[in-house]
Amino acid sequence: MRKHRGLFIVFEGVDGCGKSTQAAKFAEWLENIIGKKVIRTAEPFTLRELILGKKDLSVLSELLLFLADRAEHVNKIIKPALEAGDNVICERYNDSTLAYQVGGHKIEISQVKNLIDACEFPKPDATVFLDLSPKTAFDRVQARNKSNKIKVEDRFEDEGFSLMKKVSDFYKTLPDLITIPCDDLDEDEVFQHLLIGVLGNGAYV
Ligand code: TYD
Repeated sequence: MRKHRGLFIVFEGVDGCGKSTQAAKFAEWLENIIGKKVIRTAEPFTLRELILGKKDLSVLSELLLFLADRAEHVNKIIKPALEAGDNVICERYNDSTLAYQVGGHKIEISQVKNLIDACEFPKPDATVFLDLSPKTAFDRVQARNKSNKIKVEDRFEDEGFSLMKKVSDFYKTLPDLITIPCDDLDEDEVFQHLLIGVLGNGAYV
């Protein structure tokens, strides 16, 4: 299978942990090294406003919408790209659903796992978890919103620090993550650690 399809690498972590920055660096590196096309993408895919903007959504509806969003994302972007031999770098995927909907919003883990399994989404070759402490991440998001003069409409960001803490704790229980402890590292150091982690993981063999 791997010989015929591109690499599928996922970046995970709490809001503000630096996923976009590291995904961009990694995409550039991959394109330069292997000289193959890299598709950068992220979730939520098409249903962002619907899911994050609606205040009275039940946690079950929210879970089902994230999965519906992923089904669209997989069918329109991820699967066609991998089948064409392109590499896909995706910010957030199944582990976000586990960390936020189980860890954060307390849906029963077996219910979420069963639904994810039933969807038969393609499995990533590697998942990088940028482990930034919830306090630092929360302060970063607040500062970013302030400097962009963004009024926070995103209900997840409204839940703030306590959600970040629950989500962060839950990420740490998930298997098969390449964990990069980010608190005491600058951007370039984080990138070096993640390269070593991904290469050591055998994703390129
Ligand atoms: P967004 O501001 O788009 O992204 P990010 O923090 O990744 O820059 O917010 C996406 C939010 O959606 C984020 O708080 C995590 C949440 N989320 C879930 O709760 N479950 C999921 O399955 C996914 C994909 C995201």
